Amino acid sequence: MNIQIKIGKFENKPAEIQVFYLYEDSKTFNSLVKYYDNALNNAISGLLNKKEFIPKLNKTIILPTYGKIPAKRIMLVGLGIKKDITSDKIRQAAGVTAATLHDAGIKEITSIMDSIEMPASKSTEWYQAYIEGFLLSQYKFQKYKQVPPEEQKEIKTLILLLSDKDISHTSRNAVNHGRIIADAVCFTRDLTNTPAQDKTPTILADIAEKMARELGIKCKTLATPELKKLGMGGILGISRGSAQPPKFTILEYNPHSKNQDTIVFVGKGLTFDSGGICLKQAKDMDQMKGDMSGGAAVLGILKTISRMNLNQHIIGLIPWTENMPDGSAIKPGDIIKFCSGKTAEVVNTDAEGRLILADALTYAEKYKPTAVIDLATLTGSCVVALGSAASGMLGNNDELKKRVKVAGEKTWERVWELPLWEDYQEQIKSDIADIKNIGGPYAGAITAACFLSKFTEKYPWVHLDIAGTSWSEKNTAYLQKGATGVGVRLLTQLVVDWTKLH
Ligand code: BES
Ligand code: ZN
Ligand code: ZN
Repeated sequence: MNIQIKIGKFENKPAEIQVFYLYEDSKTFNSLVKYYDNALNNAISGLLNKKEFIPKLNKTIILPTYGKIPAKRIMLVGLGIKKDITSDKIRQAAGVTAATLHDAGIKEITSIMDSIEMPASKSTEWYQAYIEGFLLSQYKFQKYKQVPPEEQKEIKTLILLLSDKDISHTSRNAVNHGRIIADAVCFTRDLTNTPAQDKTPTILADIAEKMARELGIKCKTLATPELKKLGMGGILGISRGSAQPPKFTILEYNPHSKNQDTIVFVGKGLTFDSGGICLKQAKDMDQMKGDMSGGAAVLGILKTISRMNLNQHIIGLIPWTENMPDGSAIKPGDIIKFCSGKTAEVVNTDAEGRLILADALTYAEKYKPTAVIDLATLTGSCVVALGSAASGMLGNNDELKKRVKVAGEKTWERVWELPLWEDYQEQIKSDIADIKNIGGPYAGAITAACFLSKFTEKYPWVHLDIAGTSWSEKNTAYLQKGATGVGVRLLTQLVVDWTKLH
């Protein structure tokens, strides 16, 4: 999509359609709407006065202009109550704008940005949110579908019309960032929505290599012989039941940077989780192609950071493997040894994510990281606790947790902290190994994090359980059913903020 910024007066701009944003509680029209109301013989005030259109958040109405003004049509989009406006509501309203006009078959859209009445202090954030919402709402996963020609519509151009020249530089940057972020989120969504047959560990490791080449960042792939040499019994153990060999992707951005903090992102890359010998039930098992969402998000994050040229040393670590129930699969009761030297009794082969992460988290130590953040679709228990509105957050460092929380509020990829108290560690004690891979029936998201905490003692660490947030059950303003790409916006923001602080 071509996005243009134009400076000027909206009144005399010919347009396919001009979009205006309205607050529900605005007592008087802003001058923009007043102009149109006059030109259109009070059509807008008439609608509002008769409550035929109430500008609640994400409500829209399209009006023809019958040649009375240069724009052929106008659309009004509600923003809700003014004092409650947030950047996410802007993101949503932009998403609804694009979705509605896409369905109407409109190819070129002119958005009258002044009508949002952005305070100067928020303009960068809100412009970026606008672009993100607009682009993300247009995401579709149609690679495997025959789409009839009449449905192959596409918005070709978005024109952001501003009256204020001063804001054009800020908005240009924000548009640039919004686009980079939306691209990476869509890339992550694509990988996650792809069927497991077409994203084996080998394929994903190759995709990571290709991405790194294009971005000019360092990438190394470890295969079985190297994993054996390193003693990565977690990754090797889980992949034993699969016909597909495991891979371990190591990405490094800005390798020669000096005096900079090193942040390591670790993603769970389970390309399909059948549960292994502890086979899952058939219902919703297809969603387990999405058990590599964390890994896909780490790729997306490296992509945004590199394209934004952020000045930070960033590492991405992704163990890729399938969890399958072959004759040679790991069995309940088996004991594996990780590269840290610790051993674990595998009581349930479906609690596999923590086993592959254990090796990756230990590997992270070699970078002497300032912070390590892992993203994993780790537990159904987290979905029970938090649903899809927040990712579960647990960790060993308050400062880091706070930074992630702030980034969550800004991006609306919110996180909610669960306690990682000593009390819970009891549950993963084993009689015959150092630890076991499941706790009791309760607090499953916490006991999973307890397991990870045994491998993260040497650095500040945050774990994000994205089991509930990485997959959407419904279409909303800027999410479609299926993969959400969660984590990309959140952790890009974290790095952006981090870079500003240092
Ligand atoms: N990949 C699943 C967790 C999951 C569940 C992700 C629902 C997305 C949606 C994970 O590997 C798993 O199977 N966890 C088990 C752990 C249990 C055996 C202790 C679970 O949550 O049931
Ligand atoms: Zn599992
Ligand atoms: Zn899993």
